[in-house]
Amino acid sequence: MRHVYFATFFLAVLTVSVLGFRGTRSTRPPIELFPDMDHQAHLKPQAGSTFFDDGRADRPIPPGTVAASAPLDDDDGLYHGMDADGTPLKAFPATVTVDAKLLARGQNRFTIYCAPCHGALGDGQGITKQYGMTTTPSYFDPRRVKLTVGELFGTITNGSPKTPEGKQNMLPYADKLSVEDRWAVVAYVRALQRTQVGTLNDVTDAAQKEALLKSK
Ligand code: HEC
Repeated sequence: MRHVYFATFFLAVLTVSVLGFRGTRSTRPPIELFPDMDHQAHLKPQAGSTFFDDGRADRPIPPGTVAASAPLDDDDGLYHGMDADGTPLKAFPATVTVDAKLLARGQNRFTIYCAPCHGALGDGQGITKQYGMTTTPSYFDPRRVKLTVGELFGTITNGSPKTPEGKQNMLPYADKLSVEDRWAVVAYVRALQRTQVGTLNDVTDAAQKEALLKSK
């Protein structure tokens, strides 16, 4: 019989604790489980502060921070890889200088962010293939060789186009690579493509002569 009393008592406590005494007000302060989290020293955004030397509560953005979105006064070519009417660029934006330094930076970023899937050569044979990611394509198939620099920039920025089922097989890298770094990676992807599908006409006259001499 005893457990019936217990059960009734328990039910009554539960009912009161969930529903409470409706309408009654308490003047006592609420129970705070973590008072040090509820009440901690903090500064309001965009307000002043005497704590820091420059008198501002907001701290300056650390150098090298990657902006998640393009600035408002954006340059379509540089930030979106498109010209004003939305056509993907066929050539690098004027402010991007493609030189050995840019390629070296591109190789560095590519090795970190792209090679795990696309492979160091860009042939789609990255380490993730061994773990079941079989959909990574090669950069050397005729359609991908024809992708313009603007389209490559768009893929890095926004990820791969969605499949008919609405799935995106490659996610965007805009939050991991700055605009400059994305152009560096584009240049490096182009260089990788040239290693496989380039012709003698792609190099300077001097380099052509050198290659011909060596082949003799
Ligand atoms: C997690 C694996 C993964 C990583 C990392 C990755 N990709 Fe991809 N990438 C894919 C897959 C999968 C596809 C194929 C998408 C499809 O066709 O649906 C793809 C497609 C592409 C394409 C072809 C797009 C097209 O129009 O066919 C390019 C170019 C590309 N990736 C470049 C890059 C670059 C540059 C990076 C590094 C910044 C990168 N990818 C990082 C998996 C990855």
